[in-house]
This record gives sequence, structure tokens and C-alpha cells, in this order.
Amino acid sequence: MYEAEARWERVDRYLLRLLVPEDDALRRARTESHDVGLPAHEVAPNQGAFLGLLTRLAGARRVLEIGTLGGYSTIWFARSVGSDGWVTSLEVDPDRAAVAQRNLARAGVAERVEVVVAPAMETLDAYIAESSEPFDVVFIDADKPRNPQYLAAALQLSRPGTVIVADNVVRDGAVTDENSKDPSVIGIRRFLEMVRDDPRLDATALQTVGVKGWDGLVIALRR
Ligand code: DHB
Ligand code: MG
Repeated sequence: MYEAEARWERVDRYLLRLLVPEDDALRRARTESHDVGLPAHEVAPNQGAFLGLLTRLAGARRVLEIGTLGGYSTIWFARSVGSDGWVTSLEVDPDRAAVAQRNLARAGVAERVEVVVAPAMETLDAYIAESSEPFDVVFIDADKPRNPQYLAAALQLSRPGTVIVADNVVRDGAVTDENSKDPSVIGIRRFLEMVRDDPRLDATALQTVGVKGWDGLVIALRR
């Protein structure tokens, strides 16, 4: 690890201890997901808190999450929509979904979350076909090569005022490689160009460093 990375991580640990202590449900959602072999791709606690604050700032009652994994960010969203809110989280892998369901139950939010186990595009297309009520917040955090399709679907399931957030838009800096053959980088770059070109979106992108290494988030608001 480079010295800079060690310092980012040290500062993150300090900030997490100070401002974002996890309760038992969040801590166990993270550790037990790792223990059963899920990749450690969940958001950092301070990023989860950021997503939760964004949800509350938006006054969101309906959140769509594309990519459940072990349900760590799902818990942050579910706690932030309040008891009359609703989170729909899309997960292709039934084993991951089962882990998420356990973690959501332990956090006491299972009754306000639906984990839909299917390829996300199938679920999104079905919602679009039935003109489903728009979501207030959409979090895109699944297979990165499909980010362009997920954004297009998110826009169809949104309204003016909907907040669209995407994780992992920096990828240790790989995003700047215009000749990259990595399908994830290609997907993220195309996604970023779509965000730029869509007149309905006001957007920014922020790099993040810390316990999850070097990555970044896009935050977009539908006008
Ligand atoms: C990967 C995916 C993620 O959502 C993430 O936060 C980190 C890494 C990955 O597929 O490599
Ligand atoms: Mg991610």
C-alpha cells in the first residue's frame, strides 16, 4: 500500500469512529457478508451514511437500488426512508439475496424492503412496461458494464426531482483510460457521457478515498 493510501485509510477509520459508529446490525451485515464469501464491495460506513442523508435531504419515500449484494447500503436506505417508506433492491444472485434478507431482518427493516431476485434489466423493463410509480432515489451499484442501460431505465422510472447516484465511477483511476478494454471501465465511461449529454440531468462526480480505496460517486438530479 502506498503511504498516501495508508493515510487515507487511517483518516477514514478516525472519522468512522468519531461520526459514523455502526450499530450491531450494520456491523454484522458487513462482517457476515464477508464471512460467507461475498466480495467486500459494500459501501463504506461513511458512504452509507452519505446515501442515507441524501435520501433524507430528498425527502425520499421510494428508493430503487440496483445491486443488493449483502444489503449493507440497503439498510442505510431503509432506515432513511422512514417507517412509511419503501426500498426496492434488485439482485441477480439468489445466494446474495438470501444473505441480504437475513441482514435486513436483523436490522429490523425487512418489512419495508423488497429484494427482487432476477437480472436487474428484466425487473426494470417490467416496471417500465407497467408504468410503475417513479422512484425518489435510484442507486446504481451492480455490474458496471450495464451502467448505461441502468441509467436509461432509471430515467424512465424517475420524475423531476429524482436523485440518481452511481457507485464506482473512478475505479482506482482507470476511468480516464479512453483505450481501456475493461468492460467495467467502458461501461462507466459511456455512463458518464450519457449523464453529460442528458439535458434532464444536473450532475457532479466526486472521488472518494478511504477504507474502500480510491473510487467515486456520481450524484445527479433530474430537473
Ligand atoms: C466492484 C463493485 C462494486 O460495487 C464496488 O463498490 C467495488 C468493486 C467490483 O465489481 O469490482
Ligand atoms: Mg459499489
